[in-house]
Amino acid sequence: MKNSYTKPNLKTKYFEDLFNSLPSMENKSVAITGTTSGLGFYAAESAAKLGARVLLLNRPSDRAETSYALLNDNCSNGELHKVDCDLQSFESVKSASIKVSEICTDGLDVLCNNAGVMALKDKATIDGFDVQMQTNHLSHFLLTKLCMPLLDKASQLRNEARIVNHSSIARTQAKKLKEKFFEKKGGSLGGDKGSMIFGTGRWERYAQTKLANAAFTACLHEKLKNKNSKIRAMVAHPGLAESDLQSTTVEDGGLSSLFTKYMMKFGQSEKDGTLGLLRCIADPKINSGSIVGPGLKGAKGKAKSFPLESFYDNDETKNLLWTKSCEAISENFEI
Ligand SMILES: NC(=O)c1ccc[n+]([C@@H]2O[C@H](COP(=O)([O-])OP(=O)(O)OC[C@H]3O[C@@H](n4cnc5c(N)ncnc54)[C@H](OP(=O)(O)O)[C@@H]3O)[C@@H](O)[C@H]2O)c1
Repeated sequence: MKNSYTKPNLKTKYFEDLFNSLPSMENKSVAITGTTSGLGFYAAESAAKLGARVLLLNRPSDRAETSYALLNDNCSNGELHKVDCDLQSFESVKSASIKVSEICTDGLDVLCNNAGVMALKDKATIDGFDVQMQTNHLSHFLLTKLCMPLLDKASQLRNEARIVNHSSIARTQAKKLKEKFFEKKGGSLGGDKGSMIFGTGRWERYAQTKLANAAFTACLHEKLKNKNSKIRAMVAHPGLAESDLQSTTVEDGGLSSLFTKYMMKFGQSEKDGTLGLLRCIADPKINSGSIVGPGLKGAKGKAKSFPLESFYDNDETKNLLWTKSCEAISENFEI
C-alpha cells in the first residue's frame, strides 16, 4: 500500500534564502519532467514564481491534474502548460516534443530532465527496455535530442540555454556503466529482489540509471563546448529528500516501511532537496560541466557546485553512454 510509509515531515532550512537570491526568469521558457510531486513540483513552482513560462511534462493521471491545479493556485501570475509525456514510451516523448515546440516558438531556455523512479521491479516498458532505464535516462536522452533545436534557438536569442539532468548519490554505487542495462532486456535484468546497501538487483538497475544521468551530462558538456555552443549542461543531485520517490519504492516492495522511516531521519525536506535542481535551472553562477548538490555524497544541506567526476567523465564511459543510448532510441544524436 502506498500509505504504509508515512513521510517524517522534515523542516525546510535553506530553500527560501536560495529562492530569494535568484534572478527573474521573465521571458524564459522552462520544461520540466515529473512535476506531479517532489522536487519537480517545487522546481516548477519556483520557476513560475520567478516569472518563467513553465511546461509541465507528465504522464496523464489524477496526480498530473491535481498538481497542475495546485501549481495554478500557488502561482497566480504564472504561465503553466500541461504537456502529456509518458517516459515509458518513446512515442509519447516524440508527441510531447512536438507540443513543446508549438508552445515555445521563441525557443526553450531550460530543459530539466527531472522525473524518475527508484528500484522498481524488473519490468519492461512497451519499447522493451528496463522501466527504470527508460524512464530515468533513455526517454530523457530522446527528449533532449528532440528539444535541441529549441534550446539552440533560445541560446542564440537570449545568450544562453540549459540542460539540467537529475542524478543521485546512487551514481557512486554503480561505478561503471554496463551495456546490458541499455538494451531491450527489460524484465531479465536481475529480478525483483536486491539490496540497497550492496547495490544489487533492482538497486543496481537504479544506480545504473543515475550514473547514466551524470555521464549524459558529461557527454553533453563536452560536445556543446566543442561546438562553442551557449547551451550549458549540468547535473543536480538532491542528497536524500523526502518525496514520493520512497513511497513508490515501498509500495513496489523495494524498501521496507520501517527501514525507510529510519533512513529518512537523515534526509532533508522536499523543498531543500530542490536546491541543486533550482540552482542549475536559475543560478547564473552555475557553469556548464558542474554537478550541484549537498556535497558530492552529502545527504542534506546547501547545494554547492563541483566539477564533474572522473569515474563517468572519461572517454570509455561517454562513448558507451552515447552509442548505447542512440542504439536504444534508434536515432543518431548529432551535436
Ligand atoms: N528524493 C530523493 O531523495 C532523491 C534522491 C536522489 C535522486 N532523486 C531524483 O530526483 C528525481 C525526482 O524524484 P522525487 O524525489 O521528486 O520523486 P517523486 O516525488 O516520486 O517524483 C517523481 C516524478 O517523476 C514522475 N514520473 C515517474 N514515472 C514517469 C513516467 N513514466 N513518465 C513521466 N513522469 C514520470 C512522477 O510522476 P507520476 O505522478 O506520473 O508518477 C513524479 O512526478 C528523480 O530523478 C530521482 O531519481 C531523488
